[in-house]
Amino acid sequence: EKGEFRHFMLKEIYEQPRVMQAVLEGRIASGHLLEQAFGSDAGAVFDRVKQVQIVACGTSYHAGLVAKYWIEELVGIPCMVEVASEFRYRPVVLPEDTLLLTLSQSGETADTLAALREVKARVLATLAICNVPGSSLVRESDLSLMTNAGPEIGVASTKAFTSQLVALMLTTIALGRRHGLSADKETALVAALEQLPELFQQLLALDGPIEAMSAHFAEKRHALFLGRNVLYPVAMEGALKLKEISYIHAEAYPAGELKHGPLALVDKEMPVIAVAPRNGMLDKLKANLQEVRARGGELFVFAGCEESIQSQEGVHVIHLPALPPVLDPIAFTLPLQLLSYHVAVLKGTDVDQPRNLAKSVTVE
Ligand code: M6R
Repeated sequence: EKGEFRHFMLKEIYEQPRVMQAVLEGRIASGHLLEQAFGSDAGAVFDRVKQVQIVACGTSYHAGLVAKYWIEELVGIPCMVEVASEFRYRPVVLPEDTLLLTLSQSGETADTLAALREVKARVLATLAICNVPGSSLVRESDLSLMTNAGPEIGVASTKAFTSQLVALMLTTIALGRRHGLSADKETALVAALEQLPELFQQLLALDGPIEAMSAHFAEKRHALFLGRNVLYPVAMEGALKLKEISYIHAEAYPAGELKHGPLALVDKEMPVIAVAPRNGMLDKLKANLQEVRARGGELFVFAGCEESIQSQEGVHVIHLPALPPVLDPIAFTLPLQLLSYHVAVLKGTDVDQPRNLAKSVTVE
């Protein structure tokens, strides 16, 4: 039931502090990961994994792209990510000791299931990160980790995505242990994850300013999302959300690609949304933002720290609360969810059941 909320999507966005708790419950203790949560054979599998192949669709694919950054940075083993509808129909090369990691809210997505069935016999093991216990994907995988987000009714995935990211960070820690991730580093990562419920409460307090910002988009037909590094997939997810429920054409680019083409599209009719963390890439991103301003593009920036960037003519900035950098992709997602929600409400579209879309794509 929607209760006090106007739409399931909004209810599900607001459930995220609780969901962050649920996905961590029973998975961590005394600053460490409890890897039995993946299944009793998990330890023996993780001991042997030499690379990870992630396969998923839509929002779940974006979660996979975030995990690639994490796995390659914190574990130091290769991680490939591909949309299931492509992966299943080509002769993929799977090196020895590959872990096939499928991501799916429903566990019933036709292409993801088909991809699993296609390569199951050729990989070391299969791990499903999924929100529906007993779903086909979970039943057919060797290992699984439930995201415990509770039923997601809105077609636009919200809490399923952020809980997948947490599950993926837990997976990163499990693999990292075998590849030099120190106990101290693990404790620091777990401590960061434990801040998520409180952090999501704070992020929800941005709802008012984000709703006010949404008015700038109601008349627009296109939007460009920019991010770098681990926030590039977050920008992709922001763009998907906006197009799905408000029918505004939105594209995401890694900010460094701007001059390689998309800058040609920028004029005053093209709002640009940027996710700007506080790390070393910020200065580069700022240079990109100047390019946009110089062409009359209006900028909407979600920024990681107060000093980094301020609102000015044509630049609207919303500052996120301070957070451990490793949480950036999880935290920056919520404001983008709220932005697309409020734009859709202003446009009067069917938020929970966007035209032409089904919650679960069980037929390819
Ligand atoms: O159930 P799944 O996670 O496998 O679904 C994958 C996509 O169909 C899904 O994420 C879709 O892109 C959503 N409508 C996104 O909001």
